[in-house]
Amino acid sequence: MSGVERIRAEIRELTAYPVPAGGEAVKLDAMESPYPWPDEHLREAWLQCLAAVSVNRYPDPRAPALSERLRAHLGLGADQRLVLGNGSDELIQLITLALARPGASVMAPEPTFVMYSMIARFCGVAYHGVPLRGDDFGLDVWAFREAIAEHDPDVIFLSWPNNPTGNLWPRGDVEAIIEVARGLVVIDEAYQPFAQDSFVEDLGRWPHVVVLRTLSKLGLAGLRLGALVGPGAWLDEIDKLRLPYNVNALTQASAAFALEHFDVLAEQAASVRAERERMAVALDVRPELTVFPSAANFLLVRLHGGDARAAHEELLAGGIRVKCLHGAHPALAQCLRLTVGTPAENAQLEARLGRYLDGLGGDGEAGPPGASTSSTV
Ligand SMILES: Cc1ncc(COP(=O)(O)O)c(C=O)c1O
Repeated sequence: MSGVERIRAEIRELTAYPVPAGGEAVKLDAMESPYPWPDEHLREAWLQCLAAVSVNRYPDPRAPALSERLRAHLGLGADQRLVLGNGSDELIQLITLALARPGASVMAPEPTFVMYSMIARFCGVAYHGVPLRGDDFGLDVWAFREAIAEHDPDVIFLSWPNNPTGNLWPRGDVEAIIEVARGLVVIDEAYQPFAQDSFVEDLGRWPHVVVLRTLSKLGLAGLRLGALVGPGAWLDEIDKLRLPYNVNALTQASAAFALEHFDVLAEQAASVRAERERMAVALDVRPELTVFPSAANFLLVRLHGGDARAAHEELLAGGIRVKCLHGAHPALAQCLRLTVGTPAENAQLEARLGRYLDGLGGDGEAGPPGASTSSTV
């Protein structure tokens, strides 16, 4: 065997996680917050806090100041541990690595956050996807419990709310899975600020449940900070795989600062929730669209009669980037995922999407440019 063939075949077969170059005026594809720090004073105070960081020194691997703030913010009891990651992506990787014995497996509903299966592949671990219900993306609890009985997965990832479908499964359904799982159950609450429900308060009820959080959807995606919380029996082991300086000093200082001013971030999340509700109603008026219920900062929509790829191109031509999910999973045929932006950005999106839908002929083909009769969705 020579050269690059020494790299594992399953890695060579993978396509790298696609991140488009960006540059569009309106970026609504990655569930980022559209809002920066809102006022001069806060920005100034943050910069001062960064200026005080000694970047000539390695960061403190225990991140004591940030950990203390985060523990207080989450209301963690003394019996719950906290492990910080360079984004929650990294924590998903650490969990999977820690469990990657020969014969180990990861399970998740499908479609869901693609990194669960990608990371399983990176770690050489089998992945079992259990289809969500076709009509409403609900958890098929019976099928899930059957799959658990068959595969006895070492870890189950539940994105709650689920990316990319946006829905929040009833707690009872999640608990029905927890009750029969024998491995670790990770409740991934990346979108908790928009769902306002959490299993953090339930930590300790079960010995094999942990919760994953991130600051990414709250306006701090560029910082890369994720948090895993749960019982020490699991977290102490997972923490052994963490590289000591995974959370850099500027991120530690910035995140601690952000938690001190959490009311600002909470207010921004509230604006996003309000816009989500307004947008869902506005889009739902169109007979060419199904808008799925969302408890996250994005909406999943399905086009009827149109072509999601063509709509995506049309939006790109207008400087608006959303995520086209057509082709990502059979259950996502003709679907787009629209991150909720500022009211102005959303209005632009609605207008351009409306223009595309107006141009559709009865046969689903786009009509000639200018055939539009109304400019909003
Ligand atoms: C469900 C879910 N979990 C985790 C992540 C990763 O977030 P982070 O930016 O913290 O790595 C995402 C990102 O989109 C996500 O959708």
